[in-house]
Amino acid sequence: MPLVTSTEMFQKAYAGGYAIGAFNVNNMEIIQGITEAAAEVRAPLILQVSAGARKYAKHVYLMKLIEAAEADTGLPICVHLDHGADFEVCKSCIDGGFTSVMIDGSSLPFEENIRVTKQVVDYAHDHGVVVEGELGRLAGVEDEVKVNAADSSYTDPGQVEEFVGATGVDSLAIAIGTSHGAYKFKPGTKPQLRFDILEEVSRRLPGFPIVLHGASSVIPEYVETINANGGHMPDAIGVPEDMLRKAASMAVCKINIDSDLRLAMTAGVRDYLYHNPADFDPRAYLKPGRANIKALVKHKLISVLGCDGKA
Ligand code: G3H
Ligand code: 13P
Ligand code: ZN
Repeated sequence: MPLVTSTEMFQKAYAGGYAIGAFNVNNMEIIQGITEAAAEVRAPLILQVSAGARKYAKHVYLMKLIEAAEADTGLPICVHLDHGADFEVCKSCIDGGFTSVMIDGSSLPFEENIRVTKQVVDYAHDHGVVVEGELGRLAGVEDEVKVNAADSSYTDPGQVEEFVGATGVDSLAIAIGTSHGAYKFKPGTKPQLRFDILEEVSRRLPGFPIVLHGASSVIPEYVETINANGGHMPDAIGVPEDMLRKAASMAVCKINIDSDLRLAMTAGVRDYLYHNPADFDPRAYLKPGRANIKALVKHKLISVLGCDGKA
């Protein structure tokens, strides 16, 4: 099966009350860990690439690795640009074979967000590519940009119909209290998401796929392994998985996960090197990192997203 857009995945996910996992990829081991897990449970996949990933690995290497994963597994895979900052980076990814792009105009004034998003949609749709837009701002770190909690803002449901109507986007990322990175909630406080905003958005956009960014759960087991093997990540807290399951049963069709992959990989590598200090073969220490990613993704696909068996 060639690389696909997310259109059919989202239609089925919306109707079936589950979500598609959108996993960030940066190298071969991450791609293999994710796709081996998805192949075993027959789950459709979105592999997403940030500007930072393109800078680190180069567009062509990631594209060829994803094509190799598709050839190896036969899975329906959508290749998506994560947090496209402007028209040029979206165009470059569309021209370079991606099947989906995100234009992130969430930090712009509303009218300006509409203008640049529509510009990307027009170009993308002419090339058979789908577009994710964003309204509302998440706190946390993306590339080198750090958004303080004070500068973040929930999505205003009153703006969503005009935004989707004026731009023609295929899916919409909204801010309901998640954030990027491994430190999402204050220690000692109860994590809370604004499901009332999600409900109101989906009431105003019936059948329309919603995207949840910043959805890592920061699984304690990996943080503990990192801290037990020379790492220092006190107070890392993520989104409880039962909240993600609830979002997936509602209008959320795409759930973005990156930090959990980073933690799984780092836990595997740290644990190996700590216990094998004389080993310097990258295959030896990357292998447990890749195995951790595979186990993590399998768990997410089956127990959190509910998209196993849907490929
Ligand atoms: O939303 C951000 C993703 O976790 C990507 O992170 O920009 O450091 O690759 P990155
Ligand atoms: P996490 O940092 O919670 O994994 O979020 C990733 C993300 O939203 C990528 O766009
Ligand atoms: Zn994001």
